This record gives sequence, structure tokens and C-alpha cells, in this order.
Amino acid sequence: GKFYLEDPSGTVQLNLSKGPIKFHSGLYTESCFVLAEGWYEDSVFHVNAFGFPPTEPSSTTRAYYGNVNFFGGPSTTSVKASAKLKQLEEENEDAMFVVVSDVWLDSVEVLEKIHLMFSGYAAMPPTCFIFCGNFSSAPYGKTQIKSLKGKKALSQFFILFFINALSRFVFVPGPEDPGPSTILPRPPLADHITEEFRQRVPFSVFTTNPCRIQYCSQEIVVIREDLVNKMCRNCVRLPSSNLDIPNHFVKTILSQGHLTPLPLYVSPVFWAYDYALRVYPVPDVIIFADKYDPFNISNTDCLCINPGSFPKSGFTFKVYYPSNRTVEDR
Ligand SMILES: *[C@@H]1O[C@H](CO)[C@@H](O)[C@H](O)[C@H]1NC(C)=O
Ligand SMILES: *[C@@H]1O[C@H](CO)[C@@H](O)[C@H](O)[C@H]1NC(C)=O
Ligand SMILES: *[C@@H]1O[C@H](CO)[C@@H](O)[C@H](O)[C@H]1NC(C)=O
Ligand SMILES: *[C@@H]1O[C@H](CO)[C@@H](O)[C@H](O)[C@H]1NC(C)=O
Repeated sequence: GKFYLEDPSGTVQLNLSKGPIKFHSGLYTESCFVLAEGWYEDSVFHVNAFGFPPTEPSSTTRAYYGNVNFFGGPSTTSVKASAKLKQLEEENEDAMFVVVSDVWLDSVEVLEKIHLMFSGYAAMPPTCFIFCGNFSSAPYGKTQIKSLKGKKALSQFFILFFINALSRFVFVPGPEDPGPSTILPRPPLADHITEEFRQRVPFSVFTTNPCRIQYCSQEIVVIREDLVNKMCRNCVRLPSSNLDIPNHFVKTILSQGHLTPLPLYVSPVFWAYDYALRVYPVPDVIIFADKYDPFNISNTDCLCINPGSFPKSGFTFKVYYPSNRTVEDR
């Protein structure tokens, strides 16, 4: 029941029981970076208020670091520096990203709705479909074979509607898809599961969770994890109003500069790849595919989108238009 502030030089015990403590907006979990206000007495720090470090727009970060490419990808310098890419991005008004989460390939109903969605987009194929897991409505195990069959069914749809189109299909595995347990980052689905599918659909990309997409000058991060509830469960104190939870959540991620600012026993991290979870400088878009209710929130020049669970939210999904940086519900 004791809390400590810790930094590389040592620790100091906190006393949180003196009067009401002011928590500025955010979800305060263990392992967060915080600013604590109060006074030090008898080797204990008595806290009046907690706040997070201020969020920093990526333009400010870049003013310090110049054209260093923090995001990754083939370019040695940041794509933000390219006026040409920026222009292409603004001119291509037809570009759109379709984001769907919980694409249960073993569910007939989900497949029917995906089919419907594809017919809707047949005349105007999106730049990219981002499909997030779980790809099975039941936990990994006996049903794995079924979900494989589901993938076969899905590839029939692709062949019907998209064989000549230029859409890309990005698959981000979910917490219960076959693979290592809950440790992040998570590798792509195993090759033997996706082999046949990849042969039929050449523009499909089976990738890691989280993953990064660069579109013209925009940086997009996608993570499939139930972070909102996980962070609420592990809060030192829950915000008084439930309505604002998505805002508190987004604020927390951006001011921590990390996708999972949680203790390692709650959200284990593959230490050598921790950098894949960092969001500093802040990207243009973060897609949190979370089973929490859908939201889209702009904070610190970063658009944070949760498409919600496709089957559980009445088959809704989100469409992102990079030319004017807006999101629509579908
Ligand atoms: C915290 O402060 C309160 C009030 O001064 C005191 O009663 C309590 O024992 C302190 N707790 C700790 C852990 O120091
Ligand atoms: C953004 O662009 C898309 C595609 O051109 C368009 O459908 C949408 O209405 C635009 N939204 C706004 C708010 O301008
Ligand atoms: C899929 O992942 C979610 C996380 O949203 C998890 O809670 C759920 O149990 C998993 N399985 C199913 C059947 O949805
Ligand atoms: C967020 O979604 C709402 C409802 O669809 C929409 O009116 C609003 O323009 C969106 N915000 C952004 C930044 O796209």
C-alpha cells in the first residue's frame, strides 16, 4: 500500500493520505512519469497534486532534432521534411484508410458484413484496409483450423472485388490470435497460417502488433490491445467522470510517449523491442483498436482513433481521410 517516486538517483516514499489530492487529467497508473507537487517532511513526500509531463507537438520535437528519422522505414531523413510528399498527400483526395477491429473470420455474420463492406467500396477502392484481430471469435486452440477456413472464405471475397484494385490489406494480430502470449510487441501471424492467403492476395501484409504505416508525409501507428480498460483497472485513482475516459486515456499515452505506460506485470514488454512502443515524437495518427466504445480525439496534433469492436458495436468501423485528416464513422 505504499507508493514511491523513483528516478535513476534514488527513491522517495509518498504520502497520499493528506487531504484531497488534485489529479490533473489523465489515468495515473504505476510506472508513469509524473510531476508531483507537495512538501518533503520526515523523509516522506506529502503530495498535494499530480500532473503528467506536458505533451509536446511533434513540430516542437523536430525543431530540436531536425530531420532525424525517429519513425523508421527506408528514408534516412524524416519524411516530414519532404514538401513533395506533403503536396501529393493533399492532392490525393481519394485516399482513405478503412479500419476494422475484431475481424472474426470464423463468424458467418462478420464475413457477411465484410462482404457488404467490400461491395460498397468496389467502385472506389480505399488506399488501405487495416484489419485488426482477434481473427477468431473463440480463444486460440481447437478453433484455429476453423479460422483458417474463414481466411479461405475471406480470400474469395478479395478475389471477387479487389483482384485488380490497388488497395493494401494490413493484418494486425490481436491478443488472442495464435502466437506468443500477451507480450508486446507481438510478431506477425506465423507464415504457415497465412501462406495460402498471401499467394491469393499479393497486396496483403501480415504485420506486428503494434505496427507503423507511413503514408506520404504522415506517420500512423496501429495497436490492437484493450488498453483503456487495462489502464482504468490499474489506476491509482479513477477520474471522477466516466464520460471523459477516452480523453484521459489519450492524454496519458501522449504525455508518457509510450503505448503501454503500465507496470511490466500488467503489460509485459519484450525489452529489446520496447522502442516499437514509443510514440515520441508524437505521430500524426494513432489507431487504438480497443474493445472500448469507438472514439476519435485530436490532441497535440495527433489524431487518436478507436474503431471499436466490429461485431460488438453493431458492425461500425472508421474511415480516415489523410488529405484533410478527418475521420468518419461507417
Ligand atoms: C501520511 O500522513 C498522515 C497525516 O499526516 C499520517 O497520519 C500518516 O501516518 C502518513 N502516512 C505515511 C505512510 O507516512
Ligand atoms: C475530407 O475528405 C473526404 C474525401 O475527399 C471527404 O469525403 C470529406 O467530406 C472531407 N471532410 C471534411 C470535413 O472536409
Ligand atoms: C479477443 O480479444 C479480446 C480483447 O479484445 C479478448 O477480451 C477476447 O476474449 C478475445 N476473444 C474473443 C473471443 O473475443
Ligand atoms: C470525429 O468523429 C465525429 C463523428 O463522426 C466527427 O463529427 C468529427 O469531425 C471527427 N473528428 C475528426 C478530427 O475527424
